[in-house]
Amino acid sequence: MSFADAPIDADSFARLDAGGLRLGLVDTSDRDAFAAWVQAEMRGFHAGALAEKYIDEQRQRIAYRRTTAVWDDSTTDAATPVATVSSWPTPLTLPGDTSVSGWAISSVTVAPTHQRRGIARALLEAELRTADSLGVPLAILTVSEATIYSRFGFSPTTMTADLEIDTRRASWTGPAASGRVQFISLEQLNEVGRDVAERARRAVPGEIELDDHLWGRLIGLLGDEKGESKNLRAVIYHDADGQPQGFALYRLKGDPADFSSHTATVEHLRTVTDDAYAGLWRYLLELPLVATVSAPLRTVDEPLVWQVSDPRAVRAVRRRDHLWARILDVTAALEARRYAAPGRIALDISDPLGFAHGRVLVSIDDSGTATVSPLDGSAPADAASLALSVNELGALYLGGVSARTLVRAGRITELRAGSADAVDAAFHSPVTPWLSSWF
Ligand SMILES: CC(C)(COP(=O)(O)OP(=O)(O)OC[C@H]1O[C@@H](n2cnc3c(N)ncnc32)[C@H](O)[C@@H]1OP(=O)(O)O)[C@@H](O)C(=O)NCCC(=O)NCCS
Repeated sequence: MSFADAPIDADSFARLDAGGLRLGLVDTSDRDAFAAWVQAEMRGFHAGALAEKYIDEQRQRIAYRRTTAVWDDSTTDAATPVATVSSWPTPLTLPGDTSVSGWAISSVTVAPTHQRRGIARALLEAELRTADSLGVPLAILTVSEATIYSRFGFSPTTMTADLEIDTRRASWTGPAASGRVQFISLEQLNEVGRDVAERARRAVPGEIELDDHLWGRLIGLLGDEKGESKNLRAVIYHDADGQPQGFALYRLKGDPADFSSHTATVEHLRTVTDDAYAGLWRYLLELPLVATVSAPLRTVDEPLVWQVSDPRAVRAVRRRDHLWARILDVTAALEARRYAAPGRIALDISDPLGFAHGRVLVSIDDSGTATVSPLDGSAPADAASLALSVNELGALYLGGVSARTLVRAGRITELRAGSADAVDAAFHSPVTPWLSSWF
């Protein structure tokens, strides 16, 4: 049995069944069933219907995912689900050059005709129980609204910034890159870029491995999002030895009033080395006839700010949460990452859904490796000690949110003075966590 056909959660099935609804897995080898599911998902996100000619392409790429639906057999179009969700385990990079398997949840939609009767709750709880039963230690997602998922134990764990750069004020002062930037077709990028993306993924906590669908969508090779229709350009960076170490995808849009003031929108820029980073950013900032470079979904800690003559030319026009995490198995999740400082930390974790509920002692050795054990009685005298909910644990997990801030916010209680600082010293990630795409 693979994750995709693990049994449907009995509790959620019963709850929905009591309301006349049917929770089940979609047979993705059945083209019509898959098409109905995809169109329900598109409708759920207020998108137009996916053109018939793209259905097979999409099915080829996401059929392997666990594809779940809720049907209402009393509706006139009973074949089209009234709710959708898909999920799959994927490597998530953690601090300390490690990865953990995260249960990625996507395509969460409930038809407006059926909203606010507990369908999303049934789906989400089922996903969490399924992931837990399969031994996946945490669930992850990106969100349309920041108001939905806290109630299920998720919290933001990476932040992101949308940048706008005034190229006329941003002369390049960073290092000169040793390699070169070349145009590449999207088809060529499809061949050589995926390895670059994967190598870059492993260096940044918060990044996930891209499956065929996410990769194809990212580089503009899929369905209605095809790159040509958006004037999407791709460039690749080869280092001095001719090895590909980064790529950028960008779109150009003219200013009708001034041909010298195009805007370049950087859809994606991914680099393995600092050299490639410098080479590609310099290329983008020096594009002719471009006054503004807009770069959504960047890390909140861009070296770029330090590589231009006027740091105020790089403005974060929006900063917000991006990757949300929900710890299910505290021991497996906390033991999977590495820590920046040794020490012992007692955690008193509350979790209304039960998965992570309990008290544990996290013992971190000099190499930054943690052992997590259940804690009975009082915490050892030398241990930091805190009480927090599973939400705060998810926020802290990648080291991008500070425990001291969450104490100040009243979200974490220090059971011993100074405990937040001990957590911050240990959980700190040398690389600021970041997820550079949507899923
Ligand atoms: C968001 C969505 C999935 C919710 O589905 P739903 O079946 O109506 O949700 P439920 O009835 O199960 O609600 C569960 C809980 O979430 C709350 N909730 C639901 N949608 C919410 C929203 N948009 N904002 C805040 N709270 C929300 C409900 O009030 C309920 O709270 P409670 O359990 O504390 O009483 C649905 O409205 C939808 O498909 N929206 C459009 C697509 C979308 O944004 N999907 C999310 C992708 S990340």
